[in-house]
Amino acid sequence: MTHPAIRQPKLEILSSPEAVADKAAAILSQKIASPDAVIGLATGQTPLPIYARLRAMAQSGLKVDHLRCFTLDEYYGISPAHDASYHRFLKTELFDPIGLPQDQWSVPDGLADPVTETARYEDEIRKAGGIDIQLLGIGRNGHIGFNEPGSDFTSRTRLVALSEDTRLANLPLFPQGDHVPTHALTMGIGTILEARSILMVVTGESKARALAEVMTLPPSPDRPASALKLHPDSIILADRAAAALLS
Ligand code: PGA
Repeated sequence: MTHPAIRQPKLEILSSPEAVADKAAAILSQKIASPDAVIGLATGQTPLPIYARLRAMAQSGLKVDHLRCFTLDEYYGISPAHDASYHRFLKTELFDPIGLPQDQWSVPDGLADPVTETARYEDEIRKAGGIDIQLLGIGRNGHIGFNEPGSDFTSRTRLVALSEDTRLANLPLFPQGDHVPTHALTMGIGTILEARSILMVVTGESKARALAEVMTLPPSPDRPASALKLHPDSIILADRAAAALLS
């Protein structure tokens, strides 16, 4: 078996989270404007200002007629209608406001049988022709999607256990008294690496260590985001706070 070449992701350090969002929205909107774009989306706090910009662009004429979107992940065991579901998150933050019809976007179903659902999701991505550009955040522990440290670089969309650190980081998103799910469905690292390009956004000092490890250490499943080093076309947009540990 041949091993993929290791390359340094392209890193662009920008002055602020707003500048990161401006640049990311510009890259994504350019892709959306091309025919039959297939885009992979992320949830979390970091992409929120990107989605605000895409909403404004849709208002000023960005067309989404042929856009197809896939979401990285979803909590296992919660309904799409749950306040904290990623289905609801993206529907509210992006899909409804930009007028993207329900048959043009997909989120794994957290209530479905996980084995059938994750195989179906992979199939759906394949039938759409694969993902042109995958937007990613990064966890404080270096996760991408819900691929926690230890995830194999060839992993596919599957049911995973969430780390305590991830559950703690996501606690504010859950209504008081609700517990953060212990498991999630996530695109695998192998699935993510099949996207034709990858756009990672990293902001804030809480991500500085994770970003520095990606950039300075060899690729390893201990640092899931370091899988970007196996991709031929990945770019990381970071603000100064996130890049603080890089010289
Ligand atoms: P955040 O999440 O943007 O809310 O920090 C990113 C992630 O955990 O992938």
